[in-house]
Amino acid sequence: MNRYSNKVVVVTGGTSGIGLATAKAFASEGAQVYITGRRQETLDSAVKSLGGSVTGVRGDMSQLADIDRLYDVIQQRHGQIDVLVANAGGGDFAPLGEITEQQYEETFNTNVKGVLFTVQKALPLLKDGASVVLTASTTSVKGTPAFSVYSATKAAVRNFARSWILDLKPRRIRVNAISPGLTETAGLNTLFGGGEQAEGTKNWLSEQVPSGRIGQPGEVASAILFLASDDASYINGVELFVDGGLAQI
Ligand SMILES: NC(=O)c1ccc[n+]([C@@H]2O[C@H](COP(=O)([O-])OP(=O)(O)OC[C@H]3O[C@@H](n4cnc5c(N)ncnc54)[C@H](OP(=O)(O)O)[C@@H]3O)[C@@H](O)[C@H]2O)c1
Repeated sequence: MNRYSNKVVVVTGGTSGIGLATAKAFASEGAQVYITGRRQETLDSAVKSLGGSVTGVRGDMSQLADIDRLYDVIQQRHGQIDVLVANAGGGDFAPLGEITEQQYEETFNTNVKGVLFTVQKALPLLKDGASVVLTASTTSVKGTPAFSVYSATKAAVRNFARSWILDLKPRRIRVNAISPGLTETAGLNTLFGGGEQAEGTKNWLSEQVPSGRIGQPGEVASAILFLASDDASYINGVELFVDGGLAQI
């Protein structure tokens, strides 16, 4: 398939995991892809692995000046964006009683403030009829011990999709949320303590998933490409779960 020939696509947090797989999938279908991440070295190696049609712009999406820099580059080169995937995000465990102000601010700044201004500042560049995909999580609708701050950010992201389709109605810009379940990424492995500890946790959790396994980043990427494409032309404001059924039981 070549659904994205000559389309300009932005994937924030595109240097690892779900974002990297998404950037790769868009590039393989002909898009000009822009990815972001905070770490220059990781950004450089992602760009190298993805090939010629992918450009890296280093930036922290919780910083408005960094978002401006990203869009300045795209303004100069293309003057427009066809698809925006606001994917940069992450979180840590802390039970109520041990949540710190710093953890709250870091998580909300990236996952909520970052997503909000990534989309708002893209508006002058987004074409009428463009597609926006926000990376939420199954935690938007589930309770998870010691994960309330992260989960609350993803509930906020899910509502952004519902509300923004009304704000963007005159421009026919579709906004959908993608909600991955457990997905095999560096971010998940770090969250679970890395190494053998992470493997043990993932094995235990796999048994709770109706599909019997953890998802792969490419499986989330396929769903993002579908939502962003004309195949999903009448799909607007939904939360699409890519979770092996975990949030459906
Ligand atoms: N993996 C899962 O099981 C899972 C499940 C549900 C939802 N999600 C969501 O899926 C998205 C991707 O997660 P992942 O598992 O693929 O994580 P990952 O492997 O840790 O990748 C995260 C990406 O986001 C970038 N990033 C993080 N904070 C950023 C910031 N403030 N500004 C710019 N870039 C930033 C990272 O690069 P730098 O660190 O260099 O900035 C990296 O490119 C996140 O929104 C996450 O919440 C993941």
